[in-house]
Amino acid sequence: MKISLVSWFIFSLYIATFFSMAALSVSGQCQSHQQQLLLGFKNSLNSSLSVKLGTWNQGTDCCSWDGITCYASGRVTELDLSSQWLSGEISNSNGFTGKIPVGISYLTKLVTLDLSQISSLEMPNLKMVVQNLTGLKNLYLDGVNTSANGMEWSQALTSSLPNLQVLSMVRSYLSGPIGPSLVKLKSLSIILLDDNNLSGPILKFLAEFQNLTSLHLAANNFSGSVPEEILQSPKLQTLDLSSNRLLQGSFQNFPPNASLQSLVVGDTDFGGQLPESIGNLDLLTRIELAHCKFTGPIPKTLEKLTHNNFSGPLPSFTSLRNLTELILLDNQLNGSILSTNWSSLPNLVSLGLGRNSFSGLIPLSSFQKLNNLAVLDLSYNHMSIDSSFTNLPNVTSLNLASCNLTKFPEFLKNLSNLYYLDLSSNQIHGEIPSWIWKTDLESLNLSLNLLVELETPSHVSPYMFVLDLHGNQLQGRISFLHQVLST
Ligand SMILES: *[C@@H]1O[C@H](CO)[C@@H](O)[C@H](O)[C@H]1NC(C)=O
Ligand SMILES: *[C@@H]1O[C@H](CO)[C@@H](O)[C@H](O)[C@H]1NC(C)=O
Ligand SMILES: *[C@@H]1O[C@H](CO)[C@@H](O)[C@H](O)[C@H]1NC(C)=O
Ligand SMILES: *[C@@H]1O[C@H](CO)[C@@H](O)[C@H](O)[C@H]1NC(C)=O
Ligand SMILES: *[C@@H]1O[C@H](CO)[C@@H](O)[C@H](O)[C@H]1NC(C)=O
Ligand SMILES: *[C@@H]1O[C@H](CO)[C@@H](O)[C@H](O)[C@H]1NC(C)=O
Ligand SMILES: *[C@@H]1O[C@H](CO)[C@@H](O)[C@H](O)[C@H]1NC(C)=O
Ligand SMILES: *[C@@H]1O[C@H](CO)[C@@H](O)[C@H](O)[C@H]1NC(C)=O
Ligand SMILES: *[C@@H]1O[C@H](CO)[C@@H](O)[C@H](O)[C@H]1NC(C)=O
Ligand SMILES: *[C@@H]1O[C@H](CO)[C@@H](O)[C@H](O)[C@H]1NC(C)=O
Ligand SMILES: *[C@@H]1O[C@H](CO)[C@@H](O)[C@H](O)[C@H]1NC(C)=O
Ligand SMILES: *[C@@H]1O[C@H](CO)[C@@H](O)[C@H](O)[C@H]1NC(C)=O
Repeated sequence: MKISLVSWFIFSLYIATFFSMAALSVSGQCQSHQQQLLLGFKNSLNSSLSVKLGTWNQGTDCCSWDGITCYASGRVTELDLSSQWLSGEISNSNGFTGKIPVGISYLTKLVTLDLSQISSLEMPNLKMVVQNLTGLKNLYLDGVNTSANGMEWSQALTSSLPNLQVLSMVRSYLSGPIGPSLVKLKSLSIILLDDNNLSGPILKFLAEFQNLTSLHLAANNFSGSVPEEILQSPKLQTLDLSSNRLLQGSFQNFPPNASLQSLVVGDTDFGGQLPESIGNLDLLTRIELAHCKFTGPIPKTLEKLTHNNFSGPLPSFTSLRNLTELILLDNQLNGSILSTNWSSLPNLVSLGLGRNSFSGLIPLSSFQKLNNLAVLDLSYNHMSIDSSFTNLPNVTSLNLASCNLTKFPEFLKNLSNLYYLDLSSNQIHGEIPSWIWKTDLESLNLSLNLLVELETPSHVSPYMFVLDLHGNQLQGRISFLHQVLST
């Protein structure tokens, strides 16, 4: 086996108690073989910059060292070296193999192993590192290069770690499919495998893990159809399948009392209608379906559930009041967006409905009560937006491209935090109002309108880096553009 730590790393390691039910935590006399084990471990590393390891000396009881916790028996129960600067240039020849794995293999009661975010850590033989850690419940290897393919890592985990509850291997250079042997890890509750190169189908057995609360498989290369059972998994709180372009799926039915808080399937091949039962997800705070193929109207249940009937007969049917982010960009949703009563989602911060097929005459004042609304995108639908009698005081990013606007939304005049404004492809006529140059805009797109006059502004936002005025019938002096271009 070869493990090389070629640069600085942060290392944290917890050792379980042999007496995990012990109620008292007192400082006992360190058991001498454990003291030797820890000193050997220290000596295998360059710890000159580690404050904690500086206190590890032969002459003192190891239970008094920084980062060590003992129970009454003097047995080391926890070793926490997180955020310590440790380094090593350690491979076969200079003893890493001899020390770390043997050291770990003695620690068969290790509950948590956290080697994440150690730059340039390679672990080509995952099996060897974990094979004796049969009590391990939490494994964090984020950023560790395991260069393991599906069958290999799945088998290494299942043959050695039957009690695993947390599996976090984000950016761990995994590839191939999820091995069917993983079905044995029934205690898994958190599975974080984002940003690898995993492929093949997402297997149904994941839904059978009765304690599964988080399943994050984003930014891989999964394909096939996501089993409906996974979306209905009763304890699942966060599901992120985004950025798997070949992954298909649809929402059939969300059962009552579902636990989902975050549902992210953007940038996949998901599609179909949003079912009325999406309203059962009364704990939902984040739903992201951008760049998918959803069709049909936004279900009325989204509105229904926003009535917060705390004294009502169905307490689980409270509300989506806490929804902060609703991103449905770039689907084929149609009907009127007024099927949802937006003012009853008071916590919305980001609302993306652009690039769908919504229609109707929509007063922008429908969003007026959303005090926290910062990002609003209604662009490229078949809607006519009426911006009169509106104020959206906290909007920082507003995209009303292709919204059949005929004049500048007046309320923009009063916005101090606006940095992104897209009013392109409308029928806005007349001159560009001078107040537009008094804002702190970074990006302003007024292209493809009916604007005719451009007065030389006395001041242009110093932050502006995008200004698009093409496709108008502008006349006037454009000398100020030098000012823009030179900033
Ligand atoms: C240990 O790390 C320190 C800090 O980077 C470095 O100055 C020192 O040369 C290293 N010692 C060895 C033996 O590599
Ligand atoms: C695992 O434990 C066995 C026996 O307890 C030992 O012989 C072996 O060296 C250990 N393996 C590793 C990789 O530490
Ligand atoms: C990951 O490890 C493998 C095997 O040791 C090596 O061939 C590969 O270059 C490493 N990849 C990166 C990005 O470090
Ligand atoms: C991803 O894995 C496939 C095999 O499953 C392999 O052909 C491809 O080169 C890998 N891509 C990267 C970027 O590692
Ligand atoms: C699920 O969690 C409960 C409560 O923590 C526990 O009793 C049960 O054994 C767990 N199930 C599995 C399969 O680990
Ligand atoms: C993703 O998987 C498909 C086959 O399912 C393969 O053709 C493609 O090359 C893979 N993409 C990457 C980036 O590995
Ligand atoms: C939902 O939960 C409530 C209480 O939390 C319970 O009374 C009700 O039976 C549950 N409904 C279903 C369908 O499980
Ligand atoms: C909404 O958030 C508040 C405070 O953060 C919390 O007390 C409440 O339980 C949440 N409601 C739901 C339905 O999640
Ligand atoms: C909530 O209360 C309102 C009146 O206070 C009532 O009209 C509505 O039907 C109730 N909704 C639920 C789901 O109980
Ligand atoms: C929405 O689209 C579906 C399928 O394309 C169509 O059957 C339906 O009539 C449309 N509804 C509206 C209100 O345009
Ligand atoms: C929203 O705007 C109001 C009025 O301008 C202000 O009092 C409030 O603090 C703002 N909220 C946020 C989240 O910026
Ligand atoms: C745009 O607005 C005009 C009235 O201002 C209306 O006649 C026309 O039908 C609207 N176009 C669309 C696509 O809604």
